[in-house]
Amino acid sequence: MLILGIESSCDETAAAIVRNGNHILSSVVASQIDLHSPFGGVVPELASRQHIQAIVPVVEDALQTAGITANDLDGLAVTQGPGLVGSLLVGYCFAKAFAYALKIPWIGINHLDGHINSVFLTPDPPPFPFVALLVSGGHTAIYHVTTHTSAAMMGQTRDDAAGEAFDKVSKMLGLGYPGGKIISDLAEHGNPKNIHFKRAYLDKNQFDFSFSGLKTGVRRYIEKNPNCLQTDKADIASGFQASVVDVLSDKLFTAAETRQCRHVALVGGVAANQNLRQRLQMEAARRNCSVHIPPLNLCGDNAAMIAATGYHYLKTGHTSQLHEDVYSRIKAAPIPDHKQA
Ligand code: KG4
Ligand code: ZN
Repeated sequence: MLILGIESSCDETAAAIVRNGNHILSSVVASQIDLHSPFGGVVPELASRQHIQAIVPVVEDALQTAGITANDLDGLAVTQGPGLVGSLLVGYCFAKAFAYALKIPWIGINHLDGHINSVFLTPDPPPFPFVALLVSGGHTAIYHVTTHTSAAMMGQTRDDAAGEAFDKVSKMLGLGYPGGKIISDLAEHGNPKNIHFKRAYLDKNQFDFSFSGLKTGVRRYIEKNPNCLQTDKADIASGFQASVVDVLSDKLFTAAETRQCRHVALVGGVAANQNLRQRLQMEAARRNCSVHIPPLNLCGDNAAMIAATGYHYLKTGHTSQLHEDVYSRIKAAPIPDHKQA
């Protein structure tokens, strides 16, 4: 079964061809980072315009790289939400029209389900059930995953997402956007023990997160030590990253323990963080757990994960209908309206 995946929820226009939910034939990602970085964040209006320009060439590139034509497709999967409405609409409307013209089934996919399913695009996917830590620019949550299409949320951030905290700290240090890679590279040159930032565990046995106190802690440190931006940037980055990694790792493994589950996964843009990857690998080995983390190109937003998720819905006869619409926030997600054949 050949599925075309389309993703346009934020600042990446992406298309991919995936066979049988796990074999990537092509995965094209057109990033808009250069367009938004002068503004220090994504400008929604610019993002939607750029998606409009990129969507057709990106889909053509994905088909060509996979060595197939549109007529070979068995189905289409597209991100329906959450994300920026103007951005989502470009991929979603394109997908509806393309599927209608090709007379193939199509399905709207939750972007977060897409990230969770990205682990099935690796040679060593986890067995069900497993506990997944999803860390991205917009979301931070822990899920108990029982099938490709069902994941129960065990906890989530009450304020900032982990990736958002990296982006904000980068801004405070006068560095660029997006901040995740910049901060993690800088942290390599610092000592995480030189500056201690608080770990926000909230209730130890609950799996909610909070990163806004840490962000304020970094801001206060900079205000109290005005010269630190000349001398201590790497130590600040390193101390900040250590605080995030400690909390994420501890909560993930405690969540797995409470479900008596020996398999964990790390997904989303922040899963590209080397320090976090290494910590989870080390902790998993110590606890005799298996840990599953996608390669870097599948951590950030991509369409292969959307196609992989779509495969599992379409295979069981679920499809979306032309009257359905995108949703910006998870709370605004419609009651599933998928038609089962
Ligand atoms: O999943 P993603 O590509 O987009 C969303 O769905 O949000 O995640 C993007 C986020 C950004 O906040 C970015 O700063 C962060 O992932 N990120 C990282 C790293 N690479 C990207 N955070 C920490 N360390 C990294 N190496
Ligand atoms: Zn994402």
